[in-house]
Amino acid sequence: MKLAERMHRIGTETAFEVLVRARALEAQGRRIIHLEIGEPDFATPAHIVEAAKQALEEGWTHYGPTLGFPELREAVAAYVRRTRGVEVGAQNVAIVPGGKPIIFFPMLALLEPGDEVIYPNPGFPIYESMIRYVGAEPVPMPLIEEHGFAIDLDWLRDHLSERTRLLILNSPQNPTGGVIPPEQVRAIAEMVRERDLMVLSDEIYSRIHYGQPPFSIASVPGLLEKTIILDGFSKTYAMTGWRIGYGVMPEWLVEAVGKLMVNSNSCTASFTQRAGLAALQGPQDAVEAMVAEFRRRRQAFCDGLNRLPGFRCARPGGAFYAFPNMRGTGVDSRALADRLLTEAGVACLSGTAFGAYGEGYLRFSYANSYENLMEALERIARSL
Ligand SMILES: Cc1ncc(COP(=O)(O)O)c(C=O)c1O
Repeated sequence: MKLAERMHRIGTETAFEVLVRARALEAQGRRIIHLEIGEPDFATPAHIVEAAKQALEEGWTHYGPTLGFPELREAVAAYVRRTRGVEVGAQNVAIVPGGKPIIFFPMLALLEPGDEVIYPNPGFPIYESMIRYVGAEPVPMPLIEEHGFAIDLDWLRDHLSERTRLLILNSPQNPTGGVIPPEQVRAIAEMVRERDLMVLSDEIYSRIHYGQPPFSIASVPGLLEKTIILDGFSKTYAMTGWRIGYGVMPEWLVEAVGKLMVNSNSCTASFTQRAGLAALQGPQDAVEAMVAEFRRRRQAFCDGLNRLPGFRCARPGGAFYAFPNMRGTGVDSRALADRLLTEAGVACLSGTAFGAYGEGYLRFSYANSYENLMEALERIARSL
């Protein structure tokens, strides 16, 4: 029996593969510094864990409504109203197991074979993987390092076509840490306003920024009905393993996501949703402390990268990744990432894991202790 043809089009997320390779080296007794995987190294805040424990004891262990418990959907809507200044209600919210389903489900629901999707490159690899999987046409949008990895608006204007059905924005961005300035978001909004397309605005890092806060395209008057906001709990509350996220979108699309949910997951875990409610409604000081610590590491780690021969690192505006240009080393990205893992014991990702325009870059997650980051810099310096 052979796999269906579509399985040849699906991609992967290299971070998980590098993690497996790094773990295999550890099993041989090597000490590896993990800068490959994109998750906060902090524990989930205690009051959230407590809420989950209590939920388990109270019996939140059964199926729940497909799109999430009404009180959590309402809490998410209230949060999005407050943070994005838009008028949404519980009916606009789909609670799903992580942020990722808000990439997959809307694409399944919206795209026909041959439809074009414009997406950032370098960018989160699941976009391109899913675009190809559903049979749509990927149109990679290059990001420009010299402009803080901003979008080239002229490029975008030239590439929006009659066949463009989806535009993906991600701010703060993975892997570059770039934040799209509000004036760019407004300009993009004007380009798409009259078009028959949707914007998938991946805002999973919305709370992790170090200067100008990200501005959602949903906040531009008239754009809410064209926007799918992807957000969740994984990064903000260090809850990557809990598998809970959400999408905020027009009701007609929520209904379609509900059909896909009932056909796949049935619902998001009930006690996890209780933890999500505690996360949104409880104290936010743990988030602030985490971002403050990321800020300290970002500064020291980027400064250290800039001192390495052949490296140049723009200071990212958000998320917890450094994306240095390492063309000056004369080595290609994949080979250098490989060498750093096997020789220096530093696990990082080749920029090409995020698309063709990632050549010449490496991605380091600085969601690791300050001490480990400093040691990683020393190890890299020794192996160059
Ligand atoms: C840009 C981006 N979007 C979405 C996700 C998915 O998040 P989740 O773990 O909640 O599915 C990630 C995770 O790394 C990400 O970097």
